[in-house]
Amino acid sequence: MPAKNTKTTKTFPHSMLKEIFEQPDVIKNIIDEYINKKRKEAVFNDPDKILKKLKKINRIIILGCGTSFHAGLAGKYMFSEYLGVEAEIELADEFIARKIKTDSKTLVITISQSGKTADIIKAVRLVRKQKSFILGITNGINSPLDKLSNFICFCQAGEEKALAATKTYTSQILLFALITLYFGKLQKKITPTLRVKIINEIIRLPKKINQILKQNVNLQIVADKYYKLDDLLVLGKNYQYVSALEAGLKLKETTYMHAESFALGEFLHGPVAISDKKHPCLIFAPTGKNYKEAKKMIKKLKKLKKKTIVITTQGNRQLIKIADKIIYTPKTLNLFNPILSIIPIQILAYHIAVLKGINPDKPRNLNKCVI
Ligand code: M6R
Repeated sequence: MPAKNTKTTKTFPHSMLKEIFEQPDVIKNIIDEYINKKRKEAVFNDPDKILKKLKKINRIIILGCGTSFHAGLAGKYMFSEYLGVEAEIELADEFIARKIKTDSKTLVITISQSGKTADIIKAVRLVRKQKSFILGITNGINSPLDKLSNFICFCQAGEEKALAATKTYTSQILLFALITLYFGKLQKKITPTLRVKIINEIIRLPKKINQILKQNVNLQIVADKYYKLDDLLVLGKNYQYVSALEAGLKLKETTYMHAESFALGEFLHGPVAISDKKHPCLIFAPTGKNYKEAKKMIKKLKKLKKKTIVITTQGNRQLIKIADKIIYTPKTLNLFNPILSIIPIQILAYHIAVLKGINPDKPRNLNKCVI
């Protein structure tokens, strides 16, 4: 199915901000394309029932680069949590370098916004030779990935002009959730009650994203406070580790800030030594699963006199006295936290870039597509 256009009519000073604001529409496009609202299930346009053949698969490898790799990591966690399947995940270039062997029982899920990234295409050609099944997730209609895949899911995001991937990232994560639901139904691993709960939450996502977008002016004020920072440590656990990785990349590439990401627990295995006032920490701490550990870390950092910026769930008042700055996002299911939590950071990265005089649509040394 061709990707749809997004409907935003407002004018924006830069494509990056416009594309961040298009996210509710992109999610709606995906809902229209891939969800049967009556039956509350994920549907893929699969006339040959090709996906059903995947029952024979005994190994899953996820491949991506940069932001797409981070979306893949969220997918790996979803497969593990909901299907009990431990998928492997590889950066495309490392996959090639390690000459990893696959076979006809391997499903290779390949994620690429452009569908043109050289490492991805090289890796796809390799696994095709080994007769593996390729499921592509891309925004690139008629791209090489589209043509080389056995089955393709489009991000429905419309053109993404700004260098930084924003709307395509959140759409990739949502597609992964739908693929998880589809396999979950096929393999009877997700109960109908759970499936309906997840689908209902997906349908609520555009509204929740709009609530975050309304914080744009506040986030501009936050950006004004922090834009001179040279260093930032970014922490998160589980799905929030995904957000930490993506936040680090988004801040680096659009603002040139040294933002270094760590898995929350791993931070104590060395990096915590950088505990001076100069290096504030950005911590993803939505309530629910893994919140306790995040809160414990925020308290520990306060004792170490480190400044903390925290992303947590609306209504959570427990961190008011311990965090230096709190940014709130609406409550959602844990698997969708990587979608909601990253949006304030995309907005922050945008405003910091503008305050530093960087064109957020075209930061230095980078190309939209690495070919
Ligand atoms: O088009 P792709 O998703 O294959 O691109 C992969 C990376 O080059 C890309 O995600 C890059 O990290 C972006 N600059 C992220 O904003």
